[in-house]
This record gives sequence, structure tokens and C-alpha cells, in this order.
Amino acid sequence: MGVLEDKANARLFYKYLSKVYDRINQFIWTEAMRDDALEWFAIEADDRVLDVGCGTGFATEGLLQYTDDVHGLDQSRHQMEKAFAKFGTRDRVRFYRGDAERLPFADDAFDKVWSSGSIEYWPNPVDALAEFRRVVKPGGRVLVVGPDYPDNPLFQRLADAIMLFYDESEAQRMFEKAGFVDIEHHIQQNAPGTPRAITTIARAPAADEADGAVAANAAAGDADDAPDSEVDAEA
Ligand SMILES: C[S@@+](CC[C@H](N)C(=O)[O-])C[C@H]1O[C@@H](n2cnc3c(N)ncnc32)[C@H](O)[C@@H]1O
Repeated sequence: MGVLEDKANARLFYKYLSKVYDRINQFIWTEAMRDDALEWFAIEADDRVLDVGCGTGFATEGLLQYTDDVHGLDQSRHQMEKAFAKFGTRDRVRFYRGDAERLPFADDAFDKVWSSGSIEYWPNPVDALAEFRRVVKPGGRVLVVGPDYPDNPLFQRLADAIMLFYDESEAQRMFEKAGFVDIEHHIQQNAPGTPRAITTIARAPAADEADGAVAANAAAGDADDAPDSEVDAEA
């Protein structure tokens, strides 16, 4: 597990990165990449959308182009303060401080759940994806952007030491394990040689197909890789 796949370490990291996040981020996870992902996600004007790991609000801003009902959650106070400066604390967006792996929302609370650039910090990503499935309405869609696994063995070793990088087959396994169906993956990149993102869009089964999908995914999954739960200590 990478050093930043520890919630307290990630919070400390973002205490400092929040100061320059918007200046650095634009070269890696660009507005054009975000806008492509938003288009694939096909948000409707009356959708209630949750942005998990909303950070400084870069993706939140894109979501607001589609719907007025946007909710942002992040575990870093410092990142969220940057978002507050852009959107206010309770004007255009409802913000929550919390953990992706234990979402403070009722079942079926959202039409769509979005998360960009956050999964790589979650120690138990399948737990978080299962939470996404719980809070999204049956038949609702989720979109998750994370870092694609590098090809170069040296970068692979470095990547593994820092955080979660994953490929399409691992993304497929995680989303199936969390009970999603109709899973599709897109590889995104700003320019040749820059880091690639893997963007996965999936659908929660509708009420009448839910039991079948979970049984099929459980049968396809590995019995040994049940996700661990962890109790998060506040930094
Ligand atoms: C790279 S930033 C992404 C911000 C934004 N979504 C974007 O698209 O630019 C990652 C964010 O995930 C948040 N994060 C990391 N682990 C988290 C967790 N377990 N629960 C909630 N937020 C988390 C961090 O605090 C940080 O703000």
C-alpha cells in the first residue's frame, strides 16, 4: 500500500498541496479532460450529484454547468477552504467534510456520484465504491477518475510506493465487486508523455436486477479479496 493510501497522511499532504493545487492540477487533470468526462456522464438538469473528494472544487465547477444540485464531500479542511472561497460555504454547493469510505448520506440519496482524482488515496477503494452504490439510486450512474498504471517498471515501483495506480482489469474487478454493472473505461491523457487517467463509468443495478448482478459479480470475483474496513482517526 502506498504512503498516501493512509487517510491521515493524505490529509497532511493536502494541508500543503492545497496552497498550490489549482496551479499544478491544470497540467495533469486538465479542463479538456474533465469536460470530456462530464460529457460522457450525461448529467441531466434535475440530477442531484455528489462529488466525492471534491477538493478545491475543480470538478465541482464543471458539474455546476449541468445541474444546480451539487453536493461536495472531502476529508481535507484545507482543500475545502479553497472550494468555499469559490462557491461560498452553502450557496451554490452543499459541502460536507467526510470520508469516501463512510459516506454520511442516506441510501439512494443521489442520481449520480462523481469522483475525480481521489480513489488513489483510499485504502479500501472497494468499500468506497460500495458506498457509492449505496447512496446512488438504483439504475443511477457513477464516474470515477483515477491514475492509470504506468508501463515503465521503474515508474510502476515508484507509483506503487506512493498511491493506488490501476489498470482497466483492476478497475473492472473493483466495480464488479462493489456491485456495479455496465462498466466502461476510458483512458485520458493531456499530451503524449504526460500521466494517463483511467475514467470508469458504471451503473448501479435497477431494483429488479440488483440481486442477480450481485450474485453474478460475487461468483466472478475472488473469494480471498474481500475488502477490509478501517476506522478513520481524525488528524
Ligand atoms: C487530487 S484531489 C482531487 C480534487 C478534485 N476532485 C479535482 O477533480 O480536482 C484529491 C482529493 O481527494 C481527497 N480525499 C482523499 N482521500 C479522501 C477520503 N478518504 N475521503 C474524502 N476525500 C478524500 C483529498 O483531500 C483531495 O482533496
